[in-house]
Amino acid sequence: MSNPSTHEWWQRGTIYQIYPRSFKDSNGDGIGDLAGIMDSLWYLEWLGVDAIWISPIYPSPMADFGYDIANYTDIDPIFGTLADFDALVSAMHARNLKLILDFVPNHTSDQHPWFQESRGSRENPRRDWYIWRDPAPGGGPPTNWRSVFGGSAWELDPPTGQYYYHAFLKQQPDLNWRNPAVREVMFDVLRFWLDRGVDGFRVDVIWHLMKDSAFRDNPADPTFQHGQPTFHELLATYTTDLPEVHEIIAEMRRVIDAYENRVLIGEIYLPVERLIVYYGASGEGVHLPFNFQLIELPWQASVITEAIARYEALLPTYGWPNWVLGNHDKPRIASRVGVDQARNAAMLLLTLRGTPTLYYGDEIGMTNVPIPPERVQDPWERNEPGLGLGRDPSRTPFQWDSSRYAGFSTTEPWLPLAPDFESVNVQVQRDDPRSILTLYRQLLALRRKEPALSIGAYGGVPAPPDVIAYVRHHGDSRMLVVLNLSRKPASFDVKNLGSGCVLLSTYLDRSNEEIDTLTLRECEGVIARLS
Ligand code: NOJ
Repeated sequence: MSNPSTHEWWQRGTIYQIYPRSFKDSNGDGIGDLAGIMDSLWYLEWLGVDAIWISPIYPSPMADFGYDIANYTDIDPIFGTLADFDALVSAMHARNLKLILDFVPNHTSDQHPWFQESRGSRENPRRDWYIWRDPAPGGGPPTNWRSVFGGSAWELDPPTGQYYYHAFLKQQPDLNWRNPAVREVMFDVLRFWLDRGVDGFRVDVIWHLMKDSAFRDNPADPTFQHGQPTFHELLATYTTDLPEVHEIIAEMRRVIDAYENRVLIGEIYLPVERLIVYYGASGEGVHLPFNFQLIELPWQASVITEAIARYEALLPTYGWPNWVLGNHDKPRIASRVGVDQARNAAMLLLTLRGTPTLYYGDEIGMTNVPIPPERVQDPWERNEPGLGLGRDPSRTPFQWDSSRYAGFSTTEPWLPLAPDFESVNVQVQRDDPRSILTLYRQLLALRRKEPALSIGAYGGVPAPPDVIAYVRHHGDSRMLVVLNLSRKPASFDVKNLGSGCVLLSTYLDRSNEEIDTLTLRECEGVIARLS
């Protein structure tokens, strides 16, 4: 049987993602920064999360808001300085909070000095640091490969007559990970930050790192439907998820493992049976291949119950599970499933087996914010307008209070504030015993207190339609979780499992109630202790 001390911090704890442009602005330029995060540490500690993942903060022309890096070992002046960063690491560690950085190894900015040199001439020593190819025999791009953000993934560089590959924007040329010099310099980047005390990395698009060395065309995707991003017209057979990527990841993992207690997380959008391969054949892959099923699956009890069971069954014995509810690329959970169901989503995320990752603002029930056309920032929306791909709606400023700029800034923020910020904010919710923020805080506290909920085993339990039910157990402790995903009352028979005592309801108005039949109101979720 496992006990808390046999588990790592990244197995027991909860990760909170901060999109730094939108968390807290300390210098009145309308964009969040490191000093703003520093001023907010009280909140993160009070909320009860364990680790913070911060999206990229490195010098960047911001074509993709930091995912286009021009220098891997410094801080963009918009966000602060290396001294601010060091101060943040110390302050976080003093509060027992871990810091996870975003590592973006697949591509640099086209303004990075490496790329500037690389495009200088075909003979430049850094030419082979990126992926350059001659035009196809009859002219035009070397292959049919598509950019995730729309259009060809190849951009012609007229002075040298060759094309370079970019899986995302043309301002984001892909590095050539087949080149050992690239690997070495990027591993040194990891060491630079590890030496400064960071506790781990979330690795951007890790399944994209290797592309086919024979440069074969990608096949058409027969399931493509009009209205989807044009990238999906083709299967990414020769541009993602290649077997060779696992060698690179194992090397990356060895760099991390030379330091104590660090975590490597991979951003991977793949079906579960492919996803779990990223743990490595014997655990030499990433510690946590991000599991986005709660983001991608329809919000239906039977579908989710089955997905949990399947994920649990497919995980290798050495693979620690994880669950993600939202991020800066996807619509907000409260908009996707509804504000009422967002409470069940919180309870699900924080009671499943595996490390939870929570996106800033979801804990106060922030919803997608409509962005007027003249305020659109996201390059994807600009490249492929009208398909609803824009990511700005889920990246809007955090709502701290009811003051003019929601306590986020002293000036107009870079993205519009939510129209409802005066009622949906930390200040209003923190002392409200029934708010979603109070629910998150109580769930986080309970998860921390009860090993059954963090490291305990998982067992699915038969449940009526529209209800998800499972038991988490550790030693003698058993916790029952029952979530009613419907708008009608439901009842759940506890007797077969023992007797139950309610610990927490998503309505926050039930506790210490002995039950043998659990009656659930619409959209209600309950955690009960079984004996
Ligand atoms: C994934 C990131 O999450 C996304 O925001 C970014 O645009 C792409 N990778 C490209 O780096």
